[in-house]
Amino acid sequence: MSQYNFDKIIQRENTDCVKYDGREAIFGRADVLPMWVADMDFEVPDFIQNAVVKRANHPVYGYSFMSDAYFQAIINWVKTRHQWGIRKEWISFSPGIVPAINFSVLSYTTENDGIIVQPPVYFPFFEAIGNNKRKQFNNLLINDKGHYKIDFNDLEEKAKKAKMILLSHPHNPTGRCWTKDELKTIGEICVRNRVIIVSDEIHNDLILPGFKHHPMATLSEEIADITITCLAPSKTFNIAGLSTSSVIIPNKELRKRFQKTLQQLHILKGNFFGAIASTAGYQQGGKWVDELMQYVQGNFTFLSEFLKKELPDIKLTHPEATYLAWLDFRETGLSDKQIKDKLILEAKLGFSHGPVFGQGGQGFQRMNLAAPRSIVEEACQRMKKVFGH
Ligand SMILES: Cc1ncc(COP(=O)(O)O)c(C=O)c1O
Repeated sequence: MSQYNFDKIIQRENTDCVKYDGREAIFGRADVLPMWVADMDFEVPDFIQNAVVKRANHPVYGYSFMSDAYFQAIINWVKTRHQWGIRKEWISFSPGIVPAINFSVLSYTTENDGIIVQPPVYFPFFEAIGNNKRKQFNNLLINDKGHYKIDFNDLEEKAKKAKMILLSHPHNPTGRCWTKDELKTIGEICVRNRVIIVSDEIHNDLILPGFKHHPMATLSEEIADITITCLAPSKTFNIAGLSTSSVIIPNKELRKRFQKTLQQLHILKGNFFGAIASTAGYQQGGKWVDELMQYVQGNFTFLSEFLKKELPDIKLTHPEATYLAWLDFRETGLSDKQIKDKLILEAKLGFSHGPVFGQGGQGFQRMNLAAPRSIVEEACQRMKKVFGH
């Protein structure tokens, strides 16, 4: 029996939220159904809301630090959900994962160093490389009839000249939940070529039924020794607005370099609402996340069946993780501009535009399915009106 109600519609307008209140800026109009930025339209679970409200009721919001309970909750969660034993001293605070990726780039590379990415991929990876004047090496993913694979030969070649790889694990936007074998092969290539792995595991808890997330650092001691793992409760519990995440670095030398960067930039503590929400989520959120991913699976199933029946020219990439559907519009024969215009101006749907994810994103759109089923159904009907024959 389901304990939580993911069908509930929450009015998010006028809360200064990017997804709704940012529509005019992003899409040029405020009336699109927003299914873009990766947060959820589901309410934050009650045990997190209660913990935050309890603290909010205390009348002083002065300087604070992360409590032992905060660290212990992270350690226990990672152990029970991902079978990875981490130590408190391995954990550094970061206000976000994108900042953590930038701190890693600053800590371990210098100007003109090569950094590998695997497009189509989460675009702030490109910015972390370009803004810091590093060189982007593309290890393009291979789209094999809707199933994405890694080109290991190309990766081995690029690794010879690179200092770092930014791994999206699970992968946004393709929804791949990398297997142990794939991760081991990536890890061994990086060990052989002394390439530091920044493993962005922000979606690690959002795994669809039947798949399993393996933290990169659990594959072997040698791999753990060169891996910087980025984790957060933000996607898991829909608390991205609270800017609280963690970077796990088992290797002492690498940890020292990362922490020096944090000290130089004075990123030493977060905000206590983030810490309290994170602690409550990690302590009590297991059942909620399991139910969430069952519900998201239902949304994927609905979308997949709808497309097969009503819009066979639009193909859903087989989903393994995340709540992001990676839709292949190439068989419609339309250009990216035409697809975008039809979606925004005719269907009034706000998706993420494929080409922003780099090479391999052309002809694709990313649709966020972390929404009540009725919204997903509405979006499907709107697509049918505009793209149906
Ligand atoms: C792969 C990936 N990394 C990082 C982020 C964002 O991280 P943060 O908001 O903590 O900077 C996202 C958000 O969509 C993401 O998909």
